[in-house]
Amino acid sequence: MKRIAVLTSGGDCSGMNATVRAVVRAGLASGLEVIGIQKGFQGLIDRLYETMNTKSVSNVLQRGGTFLQSARCKEMRTEEGLRLACQNLKGMGVEGLVVIGGDGSLKGGYAIHTHGIPVIGIPASIDNDIPYTDVSLGVDTALNNIVRAVDNLKDTASSHDRAFIVETMGRNCGYLAVVAAIASGAEYSLIPEEPYDLEAICKELRKRYQEKRTNAIILVAEGAGKAEDIATQIKDRIGFETRVTVLGHYQRGGSPTVFDRMLGARFGQAAVESLMNNDAGTMAGLDGSEVVMTDLEKVTTSGIRPINPRFPKLADQLSA
Ligand code: F6P
Repeated sequence: MKRIAVLTSGGDCSGMNATVRAVVRAGLASGLEVIGIQKGFQGLIDRLYETMNTKSVSNVLQRGGTFLQSARCKEMRTEEGLRLACQNLKGMGVEGLVVIGGDGSLKGGYAIHTHGIPVIGIPASIDNDIPYTDVSLGVDTALNNIVRAVDNLKDTASSHDRAFIVETMGRNCGYLAVVAAIASGAEYSLIPEEPYDLEAICKELRKRYQEKRTNAIILVAEGAGKAEDIATQIKDRIGFETRVTVLGHYQRGGSPTVFDRMLGARFGQAAVESLMNNDAGTMAGLDGSEVVMTDLEKVTTSGIRPINPRFPKLADQLSA
């Protein structure tokens, strides 16, 4: 193997730059040429790429987002787009590709692999919905962003006897909301995985208000409903005044935590090693403290990663 390529695809997350850097530097250290594809699969189709050297990835480790840029590429889901992407990769002399992205990107990567170009996937999505890894790249930084925001909101909430309904991202997965609730001491986390009873929540909140608690935080995973709707439903029924904060894309940015930098470094190096050892068609994942490789076919056909069933109960018990 002489030449490999790397791309970041789908929604960006912190730690992508650390991972690209690891792929480039581990690749160069192994005697490979490394090409950086810009704008994800769209860049493969449009032939947007540059040859990387060690300096290409200087000073990117600490930056959020992705300097290679990313895109959600509809064309890649068509036969024609996939054919063009594979044709261009072959034209560039690429013998191995590292795809850093979420579930849709890993599916795209697997499709390329089945068309004869060895692919390694690296799970990167703040949603933590990708199976066969305890955690995906970007999750830890996003959680730290959410917890920092909730800490700040608590300051202002408790100055005014207010309840804040805070909407987190996560698509159909409640991981961000429930883990952030445990880590920030939020009173409730409403997640798509668990039914919730707004009537009962209102009753409890009223009681908290009567006990002279000064604030309440209700985290709502985007897959469980809109914060605005929840606020409309509970407004004037809980004693506390209500305010809404939708954290949105704020969660996805910012300098990666040490955890995400380490994950990127380890996943990136494992990807290069797996390509060189002819162990492609796999995704790097974290199993406990070890990086393990799992077949992309398995990863892309297993649905979303379930959240730890103990977490909702833990959040509930600790918020008493
Ligand atoms: O998958 C990551 C994610 O941030 C989701 O949590 C969210 O639903 C979605 O991407 C937002 O997508 P976009 O950046 O395209 O608005």
